[in-house]
Amino acid sequence: MTAIPVRAGLPSVRPQARACARSAHHAPPPSPRGELSAAVLGALTGADPGEPLRLPRPSETAAADPLGEDVQLTLYVLYELHYRGFPGVPAAWEWHPDLLRLRGDLERGFEGALREHTTGGTDLPGELDALLTEPVHPQGPSVSHHLADTGVWWQLREHLAHRSVYHLKEADPHAWVIPRLTGQAKASLVAVEFDEFGGGRGERVHARLFADLLAAAELDDRYGGYLDAAPAVTLATVNLMSLTGLHRSLRGALVGHFAAAEITTAPSARRMVRALERSGHGEPAFTHFYTEHIEADAVHEQVMRHEVIGALLAAEPELTADVVFGIQATSLLEERLAAHLMSAWSAERTSLRLPLPDGPHAATNS
Ligand SMILES: [Fe+2]
Ligand SMILES: [Fe+2]
Repeated sequence: MTAIPVRAGLPSVRPQARACARSAHHAPPPSPRGELSAAVLGALTGADPGEPLRLPRPSETAAADPLGEDVQLTLYVLYELHYRGFPGVPAAWEWHPDLLRLRGDLERGFEGALREHTTGGTDLPGELDALLTEPVHPQGPSVSHHLADTGVWWQLREHLAHRSVYHLKEADPHAWVIPRLTGQAKASLVAVEFDEFGGGRGERVHARLFADLLAAAELDDRYGGYLDAAPAVTLATVNLMSLTGLHRSLRGALVGHFAAAEITTAPSARRMVRALERSGHGEPAFTHFYTEHIEADAVHEQVMRHEVIGALLAAEPELTADVVFGIQATSLLEERLAAHLMSAWSAERTSLRLPLPDGPHAATNS
């Protein structure tokens, strides 16, 4: 199998790399949204990581809505311990057995809900082709179509705030799958990740480009800056990546998710550039993150589809259903988020749990 070159060659280290320190700043832990998140956040910020914890048992967590605010925030917080954590929270919590047990209980509910709401199967070509079809939501156009055609600036800013929860850690969850792949699938996935992580240049790391966009839009560019504002429908899209990234048994689903994201990003990035231009924000300071994705993801799509998935399934054909599950779960959660955004915006309501200063202040019902 011939590898498609993504972007060859490491550039020399440039002085701008030193300017990346800004992206290191980091918001404090979020506020709880219920008993589960209160128990976990209370422990992380007040208990000793060397001691056992009194956390809810499986019978108690089973009653909680696996896609609801409390469970999704708790999962997000527990996963965050494996990324950069939170200021003031000791890193030693990462492998605390009681937190891992609770995470396992919540993950079983989350994965169960995802499987319940997806159809499954092994029709991978059909699933990949469906991603190339423009999504038409029963409640109206897709979010990027809406923003490109009729969106207003406060809606664009809300969209950036929602997406910041992922884009400020863009491609990090996918890095976990690298040691779980071999041969061409590994080599090609790493080639895509090399681009996501800036091709050797700190100032071109995609997460950094998104932080620059947030700053240009006068939004909070701190890591986790909109965690309190993001509803469960937003957190679930990121938790899916952490769930599938952290479980070797779900490596096929992680690859399916990654492929789905790469296939759908280029057309929606094109629409986001149009949305920014329409709102009077067409300068590179605003559009760079998206223009970078129009070019890069057209290549990434091909690499993910033909080399990563192709090589993975040639070696492990029994993972086909998992790849399909990853694609379907991604579409499910993206459609739920789109429905939430469009229904809030069509009613002139904020889609965030904490409104931005220039948006409508009516509380969202999520
Ligand atoms: Fe990217
Ligand atoms: Fe990409």
